[in-house]
Amino acid sequence: MASLRLLLLLSLVAFINAKLGRQSESAIDELERYIQEKKAEINQRYRLHYHVSAPVGWINDPNGFSVYKGEYHLFYQFYPYDTVWGPMHWGHVVSPDLVNWQWLRTALLPEEEYCFSGSAVVDNDTLVLMYTAHIEDEDEEGFDQTQYLAFSDDGERFTKYEGNPVIPRPENGSPHFRDPKTWKHGDYWYTVIGARTIDDRGTVLLYRSPDLFDWEFLTDLGESDGTMGFMWECPDFFELAGKYVLLLSPEGVEPPPGGLYRSHITGYIIGSFNYTTYEFIPEVEFQELDYGHDFYAAQTTDRDGKRYVVGWFNMWGVDHPENVDGWAGALTLIRELQLYGNRLLMKPVDDQVTLRQGSINVTLQTNYGVSFDATGEMIVEGDLDQDIVLELTGNAGGQQVWLRWNSVTKIVSVDRGNGDVRQVDWTPIGSTSWRIFLDASTLELFCGEGEVVFSSRVYPDGGWLVFNRSVQPLQVTAFLLSRSIPV
Ligand code: FRU
Repeated sequence: MASLRLLLLLSLVAFINAKLGRQSESAIDELERYIQEKKAEINQRYRLHYHVSAPVGWINDPNGFSVYKGEYHLFYQFYPYDTVWGPMHWGHVVSPDLVNWQWLRTALLPEEEYCFSGSAVVDNDTLVLMYTAHIEDEDEEGFDQTQYLAFSDDGERFTKYEGNPVIPRPENGSPHFRDPKTWKHGDYWYTVIGARTIDDRGTVLLYRSPDLFDWEFLTDLGESDGTMGFMWECPDFFELAGKYVLLLSPEGVEPPPGGLYRSHITGYIIGSFNYTTYEFIPEVEFQELDYGHDFYAAQTTDRDGKRYVVGWFNMWGVDHPENVDGWAGALTLIRELQLYGNRLLMKPVDDQVTLRQGSINVTLQTNYGVSFDATGEMIVEGDLDQDIVLELTGNAGGQQVWLRWNSVTKIVSVDRGNGDVRQVDWTPIGSTSWRIFLDASTLELFCGEGEVVFSSRVYPDGGWLVFNRSVQPLQVTAFLLSRSIPV
């Protein structure tokens, strides 16, 4: 009898929760206990010291990058129970300065829906998440994607809106309809959603709402002509120095003649836009944002007139060697975006320098090297009229990578060996130095003022060794970096 009463009580609680669209806090508590237990089992060898990764398990896209009650919030696509992609949760970190991050409790649990990518906005004092509900079903297409809301008044515990979805998929549209990025302009909320036309071309759809609940479709901001891919994921749209930037992650872009096909790329189109006609007029064609091996699904936020971007520091369809260690995936350093002529520059945020520990300043002769523990930062200056070659590896072996400047072709490259090379031309606009960030399994190379950036995962064993393999000596300033993410 007592157990029947308990059962009735439990189902009443479940009923009330469902009505309010409230996620079960006890299910999240249980997940957090699981995370704490599993965290202790992680092999630390490739674990990152100052890049966000999941406490355990898998992460992909950054989501919900926002400023709430004075702090930066950043969420990510999260699957805690394995080190491969699975039913999506939203993991959550918070920071006072975009450099030091703390994990908070998991923000969204999948229920009838997987919680796919999306964004966060602040409405009065409420942090509102807008995300894609991916629902697997039995029909011919196999799934449906619509847009959901969830709210929090403390920045940590989220209640899903009971009236979800707020944006159903367009009539007669493809089920690929995801990754809303939402912002406010004047009296209205706007959102851009990544989509696919019925004839398999990527597109970005623009919607408007007076209150975040009722949305009207306005227009598409752009569409692939067929060469620009079959699906445009994770769009973002913002004003920067008087221009508008459409950031997107297309799948299936045709490679340039003789170039390498890559299934997933992140880049941007610069143009003009006005809120009366809703017409986005591209002025500069699609350009890649980061030329490294591992950068995707970037998202921005802004504060005090500055625009910050973060990307997923991995790639689809490749190995993630850390996944035998209990985790997989990371986010890049946060970068400030600036518009310079026809391009975007990316620079690590100013406060990134607060992690610097001791420094050394050396003239590194040919075949001499510097060594680091798991982390380091280097400023490298050479004569660009001659070639530059840096070889990086682990002091106990492991993966090698070469950074090269070809003074004849004016190409910078990041070469992980066996033909696994990324490269692009570089014309310095000011500084001619390289700024290199090394974490236990990441490399970020910022050239000059950030006109060319590479983000690549690299897996050295032990700490890093960096050799000058150029014919010329190089001026190197090197810093050890302290940890800014808890173990
Ligand atoms: C991009 C993406 C998004 C989707 C999410 C699912 O990497 O495919 O379009 O919302 O990942 O995890």
